[in-house]
Amino acid sequence: MTRSNKVLIIGASRGLGMALAQEWLSRGWEVVATVRSANTPLHRLEQVFGNRLCIEQMDVAEPYDTDSLARRLAHHDFDVLYVNAGIALGSADRADEVSTEDFTRLMVTNALSPIRIVERLREKVKEQGTIAIMSSSLGSVALNESGGWEVYRASKAALNMLMRSFAARHASASWGLALIDPGWVRTEMGGANATLSVEESIPGIVNQIAASSGRPGLRYYNYRGETLPW
Ligand SMILES: NC(=O)c1ccc[n+]([C@@H]2O[C@H](COP(=O)([O-])OP(=O)(O)OC[C@H]3O[C@@H](n4cnc5c(N)ncnc54)[C@H](OP(=O)(O)O)[C@@H]3O)[C@@H](O)[C@H]2O)c1
Repeated sequence: MTRSNKVLIIGASRGLGMALAQEWLSRGWEVVATVRSANTPLHRLEQVFGNRLCIEQMDVAEPYDTDSLARRLAHHDFDVLYVNAGIALGSADRADEVSTEDFTRLMVTNALSPIRIVERLREKVKEQGTIAIMSSSLGSVALNESGGWEVYRASKAALNMLMRSFAARHASASWGLALIDPGWVRTEMGGANATLSVEESIPGIVNQIAASSGRPGLRYYNYRGETLPW
């Protein structure tokens, strides 16, 4: 009997995380996906995909939750670890307007927590596997010529920098490491005016991860596989 491939997706209750789970499930993979509440849209997929989908509870900003997930997954190993969870502020995203509390919440959720999770769960990823985090083209310092989304941009730029440090710290490891920009996608965060549907973004991301399997080193690229400037 051949074992199916397995992915762990952190933050998959809805939006792009749920779509990633659905895409990998439809390709025959086993999916362990985390949410932080009951009865999310992801739970509806349990009826369709049965025991190939396992849903776990976790708040990414709570280190205890990551420790507890790591213990529950003690006997698992994964081809892909994908940290997707993230937040945006909507209004008051200017550096001169944001409250210290909101700034801290955004940085902890979007930058610090993904790296803590990757560091804590990396041993669950197979040697030739991939560790990916959902970044954004807005995290590119070089591409920021228009401003806007100031604190969100800063949080994804901080994420990118921390991931580069993670890559340097584990330079001899053979995982493929990816910071991925999904494009501007119509989700709750992306809004109705976004240029892409979920179906135009997510299959491309899953294809890119499959194509880069077994290629060590860190890359920052979009859903079409185009490398982005730091
Ligand atoms: N949509 C876009 O255009 C776009 C573009 C570039 C990058 N991104 C990035 O893509 C990722 C997904 O975005 P999306 O568009 O799917 O946004 P979304 O529809 O708002 O979904 C956000 C997801 O993150 C989860 N999450 C947020 N904070 C969490 C926490 N503390 N613990 C656990 N889960 C948490 C949410 O869970 P709950 O349901 O529990 O809130 C939800 O599953 C984010 O990292 C975002 O920055 C999105």
